[in-house]
Amino acid sequence: MDANVALATPPVIRRADYQAPDWLVPEIALDFALDPALTVVKARLTVTRNGAHGRPLRLDGDGLDPVSIAVDGEMLADAWRMDGPVLVIDLPGDAHVVETEVRLSPETNSQLMGLYASGGLLCTQCEAEGFRRITFFPDRPDVLSRYHVRMAADKTRFPVLLANGDPVAQGDGPDGTHWAEWHDPFPKPCYLFALVAGDLAANRDHFVTRSGRPVDLAIWVREADLPKTAHAMQALKTSMAWDERVYGREYDLAIFNIVAVADFNFGAMENKGLNIFNSRYILADPDTATDADFDAIAGVVAHEYFHNWSGNRVTCRDWFQLSLKEGFTVFRDQGFSADQGSPAVKRIEDVKMLRAAQFPEDAGPLAHPIRPESYIEISNFYTATIYNKGAEIVRMLHTMLGAARFRQGSDLYFDRHDGEAATCEDFVAAMEDATGEDLAQFRLWYGQAGTPRIRADLEYDAPGGRARLLLSQLVPPTPGQDAKQPMPIPLRLALLGEPSGKEVVAEQLVVLKDAQAELLFEGVAERPVLSINRGFSAPVVIESNRNATDLAFLSANDPDPFARFEAMQQLMLDTLVAGVATGQVDHAPVVEAIAKTLADPALDQAFIAECVLLPSEAFVGDQLLVVDPDAIALVREGLRREIGTQLEKAWRGAYAGTAANHYAYTPPAKGARRLRTIALGYLAVSGAEDADDMAWRQYIDADNMTDRQGALGVLANGHAPAREKTLADFYKRYQADALVLDKWFTAQALSTRPDTVAAVRALAAHPDFTLANPNRIRSLVNAFAVNQRAFNDVGGDGYRFLGEMIVAVDQINPQTAARLVPPLGRWRRFEPVRAAMMRSELERIVAVPDLSRDVYEQVSKSLV
Ligand code: ARG
Ligand code: ZN
Repeated sequence: MDANVALATPPVIRRADYQAPDWLVPEIALDFALDPALTVVKARLTVTRNGAHGRPLRLDGDGLDPVSIAVDGEMLADAWRMDGPVLVIDLPGDAHVVETEVRLSPETNSQLMGLYASGGLLCTQCEAEGFRRITFFPDRPDVLSRYHVRMAADKTRFPVLLANGDPVAQGDGPDGTHWAEWHDPFPKPCYLFALVAGDLAANRDHFVTRSGRPVDLAIWVREADLPKTAHAMQALKTSMAWDERVYGREYDLAIFNIVAVADFNFGAMENKGLNIFNSRYILADPDTATDADFDAIAGVVAHEYFHNWSGNRVTCRDWFQLSLKEGFTVFRDQGFSADQGSPAVKRIEDVKMLRAAQFPEDAGPLAHPIRPESYIEISNFYTATIYNKGAEIVRMLHTMLGAARFRQGSDLYFDRHDGEAATCEDFVAAMEDATGEDLAQFRLWYGQAGTPRIRADLEYDAPGGRARLLLSQLVPPTPGQDAKQPMPIPLRLALLGEPSGKEVVAEQLVVLKDAQAELLFEGVAERPVLSINRGFSAPVVIESNRNATDLAFLSANDPDPFARFEAMQQLMLDTLVAGVATGQVDHAPVVEAIAKTLADPALDQAFIAECVLLPSEAFVGDQLLVVDPDAIALVREGLRREIGTQLEKAWRGAYAGTAANHYAYTPPAKGARRLRTIALGYLAVSGAEDADDMAWRQYIDADNMTDRQGALGVLANGHAPAREKTLADFYKRYQADALVLDKWFTAQALSTRPDTVAAVRALAAHPDFTLANPNRIRSLVNAFAVNQRAFNDVGGDGYRFLGEMIVAVDQINPQTAARLVPPLGRWRRFEPVRAAMMRSELERIVAVPDLSRDVYEQVSKSLV
């Protein structure tokens, strides 16, 4: 049966229904006769009954037809049956050997789950439930097996044959074929199985672990891409050393392979000893990849490497525990990236990401706790909530316990559960047992969805030298969760004296546990200003009685860099929100605060760059009960123009000050490039006559993609002749490089021009646009859907376009299609005319016959 065929009412899987597996599979031997058109897979499973029961063996399948089935060497005629896609076999004893044979067609597998073809190579993706598209198996993460893999393929087309673990044998076969055998000594769930066959070249390197174990490293790509693998290799070695130093975790096999593939549903996959990556997270050189790309590559390489412990050595019992490995591993990769450059800037980037992707999820129809209670299709739960909010929850433990005790907890967790499939509860219990901390109330963070809103009001009694801080929390209702309990909210806070800027109350960690609390501070001799949620110590929204003067003061004086950035953001946000409400914008405080920040010699350029950018239109919309995208754009654009015009000299100064910057991938050089393009953007909106020319010069003279893409992005918003010239040049220069051409699509999809919907429609008909490649879909369609102004064009064609894309992509690749749904699911937040159009687009989609479970789940939940 095809997974793409929606059942009438797709079944709901519930966390509460978890049952231990009836049968275990301690050993599996797989034999692949690989061919893109027709691959034969023979599997030999050693199965053992788990507990005293009489139930049959049930092996998951998806799109598989058994060619033959044998038990203990005997061909079976009638002791098996199909229950839908599941192969059911009655077994008399407690231990048997079950053999199956199936046929696959990798080249027609457009879902990119299971075994598929990409750019001439064959590769696999099994997480979460792709292994059942390769062979019949109990496809669940708590069944761990030792894998023996044999592969045979045409030697010319597929000279390289890779699988998990260690290579044990290889040789030539008949008819120009060759074969290889791999053995993985570590028992693993089937979602970590991988193989790759293709004509690949390796960047080889070497690492010696802390205990002296040598590891051969290789990054496999097409020969022509070899020069672009140096950065990823460096990141891999740095990650390996970092995990030893910070978490005491060493690598455990003699080989670590990474393969880059062009067609991939998400970022990368941590298959044991054989990570498979979306090529955009491996390939980089200064001419084709931006600083953000380089950073993302290092972060994803680290993330997948760190999974070797947080994910592979200790895996998940069931998919409801997904955040156990993903939240923890994101927390680990964030720590790694922070240590490579500026921790403050990294924290700002991570919080921006959380606010852009996770807060809206928490506030919408698809809100779910980091440990969900139910799902229809698990692929829909690889979300910003599971990943990024999950990381924030681990970070709060780190903040409350302190680094040393957190490490004791993680050591205990790894030691206690090594080789096991664990739960979120196991993680918290290990933290508790190692430190003696009572985390009973903290567990609510795993079960309650929604972003807590914290009210923080400071009152000052000047004659008495007393300050009183009133704190309260509210966790808003989310689908299926009307009433919430108060959660422990760790708030790093201090009081700054104004005007001295000194901490009149030193920083402390306050954990708000109740719905309300009151804190009293004595001996406060100077008017105090509240600095709260420093470092974004809790993933919450803070509302306070700080006015524009207080926020401006903090933005110039707070010693905590995140709080300083945050004060500026809040000042900007308050200004914009008031502007949307009243039509009047008081530019002065924002302009003045930016001027001060630009002129502060103590600040580095990367940090300044983050501080001087206005919050996105979408984030402004998130503050409002009813979103009117045109009103927001008008007010924000007006403020941008004021900032550009009034500070023109400062922007020119910043631009000139970053001109002599020759390319280097270092934090100061990256900061200079970032500030440079931001300055260019402000000069462009200010209407400066030479801005287009400056942008063209920046584009054409650039010695790196960051400057080039920056200039292209600025020009893409305007109408200057330089715009078309630059787009044409970019296309000509990079047409042959798919990853760079993606940037060309994205720059146009993100444009603020009023004709963007039509332009995006035209681009979807461009010969280089294809639904077969997820990166290309994301570069145009997902990018367009985050362009609040264009996507919500009042004509409604943005919604219609996205709806058409969802339906078209669903026929090819349900996972990628489902990821296009959430922007439409936000309809309730918009003014009535747009809300009605969005809703009717969802209704149109849900009525399409043969919808995948993936899209069905997202659309139906969005309509409730
Ligand atoms: N585990 C992979 C990671 O490192 C992602 C797998 C995503 N799978 C999916 N079905 N969306 O984050
Ligand atoms: Zn991951």
